[in-house]
Amino acid sequence: MAKIDVFEMERLQSLYWHEVEYDLSESGVAPLSLDELLRDDHARRALLDTGLGYPLSEGSERTRAFVAEWYDGAGVENVTITNGGSEANLVALWSLLEPGDRLAFMVPNYLQGWGLGRHFGDATDTFALVRGRDGWSLDVDALERAIGPGTKAVMVCNPNNPTGYVLTADEMDAIVRAAEHVGAWIVADEIYRGAEVDTDRTTPTFWGRSDRVIVTSGLSKAFGLPGLRVGWAVASQETIAELWIRHDYTTLTPGMLSDSLAQIAMEPARREELLARTRGIIRTNLPRLEGWIATKPALTYVRPRAGAIAYVDYDLPIGSRELIDRIRTQQSVLLVPGEMFGLGNGFRVGFGFDIEHTIKGLDRAALSFP
Ligand SMILES: Cc1ncc(COP(=O)(O)O)c(C=O)c1O
Repeated sequence: MAKIDVFEMERLQSLYWHEVEYDLSESGVAPLSLDELLRDDHARRALLDTGLGYPLSEGSERTRAFVAEWYDGAGVENVTITNGGSEANLVALWSLLEPGDRLAFMVPNYLQGWGLGRHFGDATDTFALVRGRDGWSLDVDALERAIGPGTKAVMVCNPNNPTGYVLTADEMDAIVRAAEHVGAWIVADEIYRGAEVDTDRTTPTFWGRSDRVIVTSGLSKAFGLPGLRVGWAVASQETIAELWIRHDYTTLTPGMLSDSLAQIAMEPARREELLARTRGIIRTNLPRLEGWIATKPALTYVRPRAGAIAYVDYDLPIGSRELIDRIRTQQSVLLVPGEMFGLGNGFRVGFGFDIEHTIKGLDRAALSFP
């Protein structure tokens, strides 16, 4: 078989999330039901009348227009709809990287890009978000070291999974400058944008900051609609055409019903309602989680700035895979080990669902770190 790294976090989740009593590995918020999304009879009727043929390959014009509205200066020609944000990342990196190319990759991160960089290109070089007394920040020296003449693309996740960190304007500028210095592309996975914890100001996007930018995102996290499997990429028209060539080899089109439902979700007024719902869930649940963490002397954490995920460090003499394995097999609680994000002794916990259930699960997990 051709070699590719196992995407360990996704494998862990797909193997176990449905088997454990407490799945705290999920990184989104409690999803909307179809009934909640289709709230009037007209929308319900329209959905029931939908012919189940193929939709447009790149997504319907109206869905793309609504997505484009979320990115200043973008038009329908700058958007393509994919099956999840993960497909957008796949076709973006497939389009950019070929043997001989290197990917500079921010860690910690959702490691899809890390594996794809090694698969499509020659290597993935990492640069870090580092944790200091004031929280997370970008190590700009490491960024500059990770980017060299062979670097074809720089990939970031902003807001970040798993830390919930949001890059400052200066850090975004540093990334753009370092990428432009060697003519590299920026692939910005912004799937948590819109799920800010302490502000209603949406996280700034990389779109428009350089000519060579591909933004990837979708409805799975900040919009609470992962089951639709709707993602997108935003890029120049020529770049979108390149992504489309790959999309013809992957899934051809989004699902017809998903495209129709994405249209409803991304209509600008509804989009803002959905994001406000997500922020409401996060703001209600986070204080409960913080209160719980504060009672555990072995745990430290930095408050996330966005997303329904918290990254928690622990001070215990055991590696994160082993600890999380033990918690899963002995307490039937699924957390994600720090090592699966490029970190060390820590774990990610999702807090976007029923918070009382989450706290009960954490109490159980704490039997392994009293
Ligand atoms: C940063 C990031 N990008 C992409 C994805 C995948 O998104 P989707 O479920 O829309 O394919 C995830 C899922 O956890 C994620 O955390």
